[in-house]
Amino acid sequence: MPIEAFILNGPNLNLLGTREPGIYGSLTLADIEANCREKAAALGFSAVEFRQSNHEGVLVDWIQEAGRRGAGVVMNPGAYTHTSIALHDAIKGTGVPVIEVHISNVHARESFRHRSFVSPVAAGVIVGLGPLGYTLALEALAGLLKG
Ligand code: DQA
Repeated sequence: MPIEAFILNGPNLNLLGTREPGIYGSLTLADIEANCREKAAALGFSAVEFRQSNHEGVLVDWIQEAGRRGAGVVMNPGAYTHTSIALHDAIKGTGVPVIEVHISNVHARESFRHRSFVSPVAAGVIVGLGPLGYTLALEALAGLLKG
């Protein structure tokens, strides 16, 4: 059975590579996309949608699209992690399996980053392992989708 992954990135992740490299490292989002495509192919994903938006509603639309397509989601919601009831409701309402990823260890940073509205509705969470978190999340997602 074909399995499909949506890899969704929230606000400011388009700036990776130049954005606070001491926290987020030097890889660009395009580098992370290349790593994800290679890993997804090795895991047997038949299709990968790798996307980024700075807009909360667009991310909600994409979660709903993934749900309609029966895809799984790897998501770094960026700062919307800590604010977005809309993302929480979209994940809950579609029932789409989501692995939440954060490049940095949000729990070792400011207290406003300690709360996630996504984690309670995520299938799993990977935090603080850098860009490696994305490919680890794909591995976990493949396991979930293959049952
Ligand atoms: C982030 C952590 C968030 O707190 C922050 O707003 C981001 C990136 C991470 O990948 O470490 O934009 O999600």
